[in-house]
Amino acid sequence: MQDTLSAILAKAQPELATLKTRAEFEAAKARYVGPNGEFTALMKQMGTVPKEQRPIMGKLVNEAKARLQIELDATLARIAAAEIAASLGPAVDPTLPSPDAGPGTYHPLTLVREEMCRILRKAGFTVADGPEVETEYYCFDALATPADHPARDAQDTFYFPEKTTFANVAKKVPTEKYLLRTHTSSVQIRTMLKGQPPIRIVSPGRVYRRDTSDATHSANFHQLECLYVDKNVTVRDLKALLDYIFASLLGKDTKTRFRPHYFGYTEPSFEVDLSAQHLPKVKKDWIEIGGCGMVDPAVFEGVGYDPEVWTGYAFGMGLERLAMLVYGIDDIRYFYQNDVRFLRQFA
Ligand code: DAH
Repeated sequence: MQDTLSAILAKAQPELATLKTRAEFEAAKARYVGPNGEFTALMKQMGTVPKEQRPIMGKLVNEAKARLQIELDATLARIAAAEIAASLGPAVDPTLPSPDAGPGTYHPLTLVREEMCRILRKAGFTVADGPEVETEYYCFDALATPADHPARDAQDTFYFPEKTTFANVAKKVPTEKYLLRTHTSSVQIRTMLKGQPPIRIVSPGRVYRRDTSDATHSANFHQLECLYVDKNVTVRDLKALLDYIFASLLGKDTKTRFRPHYFGYTEPSFEVDLSAQHLPKVKKDWIEIGGCGMVDPAVFEGVGYDPEVWTGYAFGMGLERLAMLVYGIDDIRYFYQNDVRFLRQFA
């Protein structure tokens, strides 16, 4: 009996080592321990063994079976590991440089943002930052945009549920709601509340509106805001700065014009158009590019500046619109699709 058991084990070991697939494994397993297997046949012979020998025999058979089971388990584990390795493909050496790790390129919006900040830095502006999650106070109230203004409507603005809290965005009034900022003008208020004039800041950043996406609309886009507060600032200064910016960005043939408009936080207020027929794909005579005006005295009062002493101008514009002009892009959605064929063109 001992010999038979040893013989089975001696045969099983090399045989199991050659198995490659689950099917081969199952067939081999059946040959040893299946209902018609060699091992099972041996167990059946136990009935014919004299009674006093049975405990010794039983022990031998059990030991052999346990050893065989270890071999079977190891074989199955080896096959399963090989299956996983095969499904993963060739081995990867993570220490090698990535095959597609080129130097990368800047996104066209980044390029235009940086260029605008560079142009404005030359005129003495510093970059200011503000949170994309805002409160109604900074986004609307402090900018003299009253509660019944359409910009505040839930149709136009993404509000957070009442219970949401942001530990890093302080509310002015406990009852006010959090929202995704609809414009970068909120940074004007945050900057003025933080310091004293004179102030000269540029603040580029992401803004959010409830808009259905099409060639010229996106629920998430980028703006660039400027604020200048000093003594004796006039509309002439505002116009001169805008002329300087657009000539620097788009070329000296660029013209700007103001159209009277209404914004709650500036008085007077204008919409800015520019004419840049020398640029590719520009068909229209005048293109609306942003809003501007002289800071309303009520806004100064709200942040504790004396409107008898301080004057200023502010303006805001869309970065996508600028980038579309600079590069002749005709659909805003290209900016967000991350198609490398598009992005590579700005290398
Ligand atoms: N916040 C305005 C918008 O999103 C743009 C704007 C208009 C900004 C007038 C200003 C301003 O600073 O004075 O349409």
